[in-house]
Amino acid sequence: MKVAVIGTGYVGLTTGVCLAFVGHEVHCLDVNESKVNALRAGQIPIFEPQLEDLLDAAKGRLHFTSKYEDAIPDAEVIFIAVGTPSLPDGQPDLQYLRSASESLGKYLSASFTVVVNKSTVPIGSGNWVGALIRESQKAAGLHTDFAVASNPEFLREGSAIFDSLYPDRIVIGADQGKALETLYRLYRPVIDQTFPAPAFCPRREGFSAVPLVSTDLASAELIKYAANAFLATKISFINEIGLLAGRVGADIQHIARGMGLDSRIGNRFLSAGLGWGGSCFAKDTAALSATAKEYGLGMGIVEAARQVNFAMREKVIERLLDILKIIKGRNIAVLGLAFKPNTDDLRDAPAIDIIRRLQSRGVIVHAHDPIAMERFRIEHPDLASVLCDTAEEAMRESDAVVLATEWNEYRELDWAMLGDVVRQKNVLDTRWTLDADSLRRVGWNLIRLP
Ligand code: UDX
Ligand code: UDX
Repeated sequence: MKVAVIGTGYVGLTTGVCLAFVGHEVHCLDVNESKVNALRAGQIPIFEPQLEDLLDAAKGRLHFTSKYEDAIPDAEVIFIAVGTPSLPDGQPDLQYLRSASESLGKYLSASFTVVVNKSTVPIGSGNWVGALIRESQKAAGLHTDFAVASNPEFLREGSAIFDSLYPDRIVIGADQGKALETLYRLYRPVIDQTFPAPAFCPRREGFSAVPLVSTDLASAELIKYAANAFLATKISFINEIGLLAGRVGADIQHIARGMGLDSRIGNRFLSAGLGWGGSCFAKDTAALSATAKEYGLGMGIVEAARQVNFAMREKVIERLLDILKIIKGRNIAVLGLAFKPNTDDLRDAPAIDIIRRLQSRGVIVHAHDPIAMERFRIEHPDLASVLCDTAEEAMRESDAVVLATEWNEYRELDWAMLGDVVRQKNVLDTRWTLDADSLRRVGWNLIRLP
């Protein structure tokens, strides 16, 4: 099928590459020309493992452009995957969604097109996008038939390719049966797992079919919010229990294991620690609350999950005060900047919040990340002076080390040797990633969060 994808961020690019890989003819569109040129040259503007390999494997069916007139006419399915960043009141900023809808409306020429919202958009956006497209069609004198659908993504950064090729489920929502049929045809190779698995991202043994949830537009839109809010709440829940566990002398790892083996609960997303960051959880929980408010409803559970999450960042400061008593004028090393390992994404990264809080208390901060420093320099130029080329350099003369992202390389550091580099051997492992026994054996004071 002929497919267009508008927006080549994490979601759009992954979607486009995967659909081309499973056999569709895909035009990826981005208004940023330098991004398009880079992609044409096979360069990927983001760090996502395996994306480059998959792009290479699919390149015969993949096209990149910055022009709507190249991508839109004849496309049977058009994905909108543009950014929807949060506004200060928690509502997402829909200006890019608006401009994508208006621009594509001018070029629709297939006899029937399905326009799919892939970006996480507020409930009701499907109708809004439909209205914008109709207006723009009218202005251009076009009358082709189209429907708007929602097909939320559930991909985790760092495993986006695996999550796209072998998803737990595919959710499609539309109010016209014809649109659902088109999307079913589009996803057929993934649903039936008929594509040859790439060698670098093999299929799990026995994985042969993907459940399809086919529903109305509003339900599909809400599924995405509900799923993310639930995952965020699960993490905050274990963190809140963790705070109590710390006080009564219980072990949160054992508690999480004991809870998670109950198949109704499940063991995933029960890792206690610094809490969640990233582009989705904070934004989606805020948007869900804001939407509920428009309908006179409260989202008490989701609000509580947010409070617990952001409080974990202040707990880092509290723990450092416990150890050092006075932190003003101390050297503190922060290891890990990305919101989680295997990505260079810094959106809502707890480490950045922590660095700012430390600096505002007069701490001298040095920081390191194996992958995200380049992006950090661009996105947070005011903080660039904290960066050090190596973890060792960041730790030199430090009074405490805060491990904020569980990168493998931090686990593999020579902690015995690093004991000679620091001023005091304090490490706050906020992600439960270091081997406590071996560190303690070489004299480190290791503490954890919560
Ligand atoms: C529950 C726990 O499941 C069990 O592990 C514990 O040891 C004792 O309490 P029980 O009360 O027998 O067991 O029933 P359960 O089937 O778990 O349901 C509890 C209540 O929750 C019921 O009223 C049920 O209708 C309700 N429920 C359950 C829901 O409202 N929604 C659900 O999704 C599940
Ligand atoms: C998330 C959702 O998982 C995905 O389905 C959705 O489409 C986008 O948002 P992502 O933000 O890429 O994906 O990362 P995820 O792996 O879900 O982690 C989110 C945050 O939660 C990270 O900061 C991670 O460190 C934290 N986390 C995760 C925990 O603190 N504990 C856990 O047990 C799991």
